[in-house]
Amino acid sequence: MSDLDRLLDQARREVAESADLAALEETRVRWLGRKGALTEQLKALGALAPSERPAAGQRINAAKDALQAALEARRAELERAEDERRLASGRLDVTLPGRGEERGGLHPVTLTRLRIESLFRRAGFDIAAGPEVEDDFHNFEALNIPPNHPARAMHDTFYFADGRLLRTHTSPVQIRALLARGAPLSVIAPGRVYRCDSDITHSPMFHQLEGLVVGEQVSFANLKAILHGFVEAFFERPLGMRLRPSYFPFTEPSAEVDMSCVFCLGKGCRVCKHTGWLEIAGCGMVHPNVLTASGVDAERFTGYAFGAGIDRLAMLRYGVNDLRLFFESDLRFLEQFATF
Ligand code: PHE
Repeated sequence: MSDLDRLLDQARREVAESADLAALEETRVRWLGRKGALTEQLKALGALAPSERPAAGQRINAAKDALQAALEARRAELERAEDERRLASGRLDVTLPGRGEERGGLHPVTLTRLRIESLFRRAGFDIAAGPEVEDDFHNFEALNIPPNHPARAMHDTFYFADGRLLRTHTSPVQIRALLARGAPLSVIAPGRVYRCDSDITHSPMFHQLEGLVVGEQVSFANLKAILHGFVEAFFERPLGMRLRPSYFPFTEPSAEVDMSCVFCLGKGCRVCKHTGWLEIAGCGMVHPNVLTASGVDAERFTGYAFGAGIDRLAMLRYGVNDLRLFFESDLRFLEQFATF
């Protein structure tokens, strides 16, 4: 036992002289392994007188702990040296681009909305917006749809417990824009709308484009010209257009807007159900009751309004045949529209 200090000195020297991690491991086994020199010391305790064993055991364990600490310190030192050698060898080119970087892109419905906004801006329209959680006044009442009006049944409305609702169309923005800015005005309002309805051509959330022009000389002819100009600009080709008489409580007269089918150019195909026409919007002259409810003098001003489906315009432009593809967030589908 008297040479324990000498053994520890020697072990420390060997640790300090271990030149790499493998050599250090050999040193560790040589001293602290199952047949290591210090381990053998513990085994020799049995040969001592019982009264001497506790003190001797403590000294050996203290020597083991000291050696363990020396080994750890040397390991950290060797690992740091190894890192520095690797960095100094200069094989890491930090100017290379990272791996697996994917670039994002805009959603096709967003691309379509931005395109629509830019076309209408060029025609002098402002962009207006309103809340998706609406109240009965803006979504129905002010649009000449009083309680119990049969038109409410066509709207499959999502209601909240407090009587508010998810807007069923962008037409409430007509009221909000007129109340906020007054006449004259020209705005479009693109946005999300909600109806309790879901199949290949209906999604419970979809996008509409509202248009509203109010002024002193605004006519039905202006409405048709703007819509025709818009579809030809949007689809980048000459297209036929026709208006069919229809009914909306908030416009009078009202019409459905058809354009010639972009796929067969009017000859008849599956997309247009062999009619040669595609329905793309509802429209009409703003009902005087709507102007009055919005604080506009209905004797002095007239206006037109239209509502079109943005998702439908996107489907026609990109040749997508199932509306639900837009809302499933499948990257294999969405990546095809990525433009940067
Ligand atoms: N809000 C109507 C709808 O959702 C569309 C529309 C808007 C019709 C403006 C006429 C004028 O069906």
